[in-house]
Amino acid sequence: MPPLGAPRGTHDLLPDTATAWRWLHGVHAEAAELHGYRPIDTPVFEQTELFERGVGTGTDVVDKEMYTFSDRGGRSLTLRPEGTAGVLRAVLQANLLEEARPVRAHYAGPMFRYDRPQKGRYRQFHQVGIECIGERSPELDVEVIEVGWRFLQALGLAGVVLQVNSLGDLDDRMRYREALLAYYRPLADRLCDDCRRRLEINPLRLLDCKRDESLRDAAPVITDSLGESSAAYFAAVRGGLEAAGVAAEHNPRLVRGLDYYAHTAFEYWHSSLQGAQNSLGGGGRYDGLAEAIGFPATPGIGYAFGVERLLLVAGEQGSAPAPQPACDVVVCSLGPAEAQPAAQLARVLRAAGVRTVLDASDRKLDRKLRNADRLGARLCVIVGEDEVREGAAMVRDLGRRTQERHPAAGVVDAVTAALAAGRAA
Ligand code: HAM
Repeated sequence: MPPLGAPRGTHDLLPDTATAWRWLHGVHAEAAELHGYRPIDTPVFEQTELFERGVGTGTDVVDKEMYTFSDRGGRSLTLRPEGTAGVLRAVLQANLLEEARPVRAHYAGPMFRYDRPQKGRYRQFHQVGIECIGERSPELDVEVIEVGWRFLQALGLAGVVLQVNSLGDLDDRMRYREALLAYYRPLADRLCDDCRRRLEINPLRLLDCKRDESLRDAAPVITDSLGESSAAYFAAVRGGLEAAGVAAEHNPRLVRGLDYYAHTAFEYWHSSLQGAQNSLGGGGRYDGLAEAIGFPATPGIGYAFGVERLLLVAGEQGSAPAPQPACDVVVCSLGPAEAQPAAQLARVLRAAGVRTVLDASDRKLDRKLRNADRLGARLCVIVGEDEVREGAAMVRDLGRRTQERHPAAGVVDAVTAALAAGRAA
């Protein structure tokens, strides 16, 4: 039998990626918390209806990409394809708005979409995001977009282009729907099967079609259907972004792929991600989502970034930190009789905060030194027969290839001094 691999479209987070991974999550939490967002974590699976009603039937995410299954109790459950619907549900279910308004929450975790895997596109991927729930004002839209912008700056990513648009309110979208129908109906025989279906159930999603872009490029834009108050709201958001020093381009064709958006919608694009995968992150206002999932009307706005895509760009630009080695010090015993004293020395080093691995194997010393090098250790502490007899240990600098004997009681000081000197060099 051939060895089993990870399922298609998934990937393992191996130890070498952990440093950059942790860094990114830390930078995001810091940027969000600087603006008053608190962590929230919701289940990776929810009732299927949450996404059908929230994200919307007729979207690719719901129609083609959900991992849906029945549990043993016959309930239909779905691995979350995105985080917003679950976070909103959790906030409303727990009545958090009774305590403070708006509720500001940030999150991170795996999402699942049965997408066609390629560079930057996976079936299990990860997002970091924020949601600001319970109030509606252009200042909050600016705040959310700006948190994302500052986060990208803190990651050191250059070349990000922020695209913004307004999808208006329900009336605007009804007008736009009519304009789209008037444009697309005469072209019905040029549409793909999916689009003919979209024409019937959800015309806005015709703009998601990747088959014939020329049709989409000549389609009416939502901006022309915006009423006065929606246009004024959007102008206030754009003005606020300008005042914040956040450079945003108005892209009248940006409609996002999920149905719950109203008014402000935005995406952060990067050119090193190609084609349909050029979006590092995106979000928008979702004032109708709460009602769609059975709660009282509650406004909200948020964004999510794809962690893998951010790391791809950070890796290319060299802004992600290098992998952290497994340890700073390897304590090597030279024979079975020295294993206990070496283990004790390792404990003392760890108690002093030194990342230490014990090598009490029966390998020869030169193999142990080579292995310590591979682990990324800077020092080896060698404990042989002579050292045990004299209550000492040999501290070897693996880079400089020098070594010095120290009394056991002085090993911690010698090691920390050598590590600090190396760090300063
Ligand atoms: P989204 O645009 O569907 O929005 O996804 C946000 C980001 O997740 C994308 O820009 C991309 O970086 C990443 N992403 C999406 N699908 C994949 C995939 N198959 N593989 C790798 N990365 C992917 C949302 O999910 C909304 N919930 C955002 C939001 C928050 N809106 C309001 N609040």
